[in-house]
Amino acid sequence: MSEMSSSAKARALAVEAQLDVDTDILDGGLNGHEDVIVNPLREGMFQAVTATPCAMIIFGVSGDLTSRKLMPALYDLAMNSRLAEGFAIVGVSRRQWTDEQFRTEMRAEVERHSTLPVTDDRWNSFARGLFYVGGNFDEPAMYDRLRERLDELDRERRTEGNRLFYLATPPSFYITIVRSLGSHRLVERQDFYTAPRSGWSRIVIEKPIGHDLASARELNHAISEVVSEGQVYRIDHYLGKETVQNALAFRFANVLFEPVWNRHYVDHMQITVAESLGVEDRATYYEEAGALRDMVQSHMLQLLAIVAMEPPAVFRGNAVRDEKVKVLRSVIPPSGEAVKSLTARGQYAAGYVEGLAVPGFRQEQFVSPSSTTETFVALKLQIDNWRWADVPFYLRTGKRLPRRVSEIAIQFKKVPHLMFQAAGTRDVEPNLLTIRIQPDEGISLRFVAKIPGTTMQLRTVRMDFAYGAAFGGAGADAYERLIVDAMNGDQTLFARRDEVETAWNLIDPIEQAWLVEELTHLPLYEAGTWGPDKADLLIERDGRSWRRP
Ligand code: BG6
Repeated sequence: MSEMSSSAKARALAVEAQLDVDTDILDGGLNGHEDVIVNPLREGMFQAVTATPCAMIIFGVSGDLTSRKLMPALYDLAMNSRLAEGFAIVGVSRRQWTDEQFRTEMRAEVERHSTLPVTDDRWNSFARGLFYVGGNFDEPAMYDRLRERLDELDRERRTEGNRLFYLATPPSFYITIVRSLGSHRLVERQDFYTAPRSGWSRIVIEKPIGHDLASARELNHAISEVVSEGQVYRIDHYLGKETVQNALAFRFANVLFEPVWNRHYVDHMQITVAESLGVEDRATYYEEAGALRDMVQSHMLQLLAIVAMEPPAVFRGNAVRDEKVKVLRSVIPPSGEAVKSLTARGQYAAGYVEGLAVPGFRQEQFVSPSSTTETFVALKLQIDNWRWADVPFYLRTGKRLPRRVSEIAIQFKKVPHLMFQAAGTRDVEPNLLTIRIQPDEGISLRFVAKIPGTTMQLRTVRMDFAYGAAFGGAGADAYERLIVDAMNGDQTLFARRDEVETAWNLIDPIEQAWLVEELTHLPLYEAGTWGPDKADLLIERDGRSWRRP
């Protein structure tokens, strides 16, 4: 077949682009806002792999996120030639650093956290693209200095007026920064219908997006006054994980599983995100947030949405996000009295994790000795739609659990009739499909097989796919993928405004019910165990039990 002509291809792309727009409009816009996706043709989102030339401006560059995640990811990307040749990374923070001091500080962090070796040659080629602007986030003159610097870099590094503003600061600065970017004309509103005057501008924002629905709305509203939704990239790093994206490939690129992916065959699902670490040095933030806000509102509800959504027409932007938000809207929010039986929370006490004695949460630095913050939460959710009616989704996450493991387990129903009973097999374990998100990334399917021999004895066995064996590993860090996607204008793996707000809509009633419940009831669990007894009760009441992954 002959290749598609370039005009036919352009038309096809334009139609696809238009589809994204129409979805928003049909949907009543994004919660009533007129925002539409930025034109992907103009944005170059169909370019593969290498990022579009741009300046990435990191606010809060002296913080932990930059050291542990962003700078190592950028270095790895540059070493793998995935950044444009003239990339520029501009750090912004209150520290009074020169460009040189900034580069020295960043080298130390990259050496500590990058997976690649740092030699003088490699570092120097990378560091040529690093620049620094110091100042307070509420200081107007700082934004003027920043604009001048970015204009210079457009000429020196050929960043073409393209700007990716990355908010890696404490959330209390978000609104101030976004408003200042707008008032200093560092960003301009761009949408499908408006051609940018000079290059594109986008804002990447880290979680937490608010601490409840009202504050999330306030923040989203403030952002929407400055830029359109198509310019906002809300990071949920779980969406950047290979294994999470593979869950979509597994469901929608294979014909075998989708026909049984529903209430007729699935008994229930269990989504586990267990951490062996404690609160580390983030106690101040975590004590305010707790496990429900920190993990469930974002990562766990995203996993739920991916595993439960309907097949989108295309793997792109709003097509995927529309389906995810539909699932979230169909989840019945646990509220009032029901919260007692549908949720279980707990806080870790001193214990042993991986053979080491560890302190309890209340003994951690900067944690109040009478803290009632939950470090563990389990919940049962129901999705009120045709596909999932009456199928429970059990979610649990916690810190200081026995080991670090994240997985989605799909427990299928029992066979309707077992013909092997006369031969002595009274019962067999039903099929179980496990998507292992981390570590030991892969997928396994449990099924029943005959034990070799002269009798009809049965036993469960496992069919395993391991990333290590198939691909030599599970690929790059989530941040690498997400940074390149943001530079290339691909929003598929970023949370849209209505997704975030719908997720808060599920979390708020639980938080409210917990507030009413007497706080002295917060159960403790020994560090190194699988959470409080109430979590077991929550699932055992339904005649089921948690997996011990
Ligand atoms: C973050 C949470 O978003 O995710 C942390 O704020 C948590 O509390 C972390 O430790 C877990 O991420 P990962 O990639 O290590 O599973």
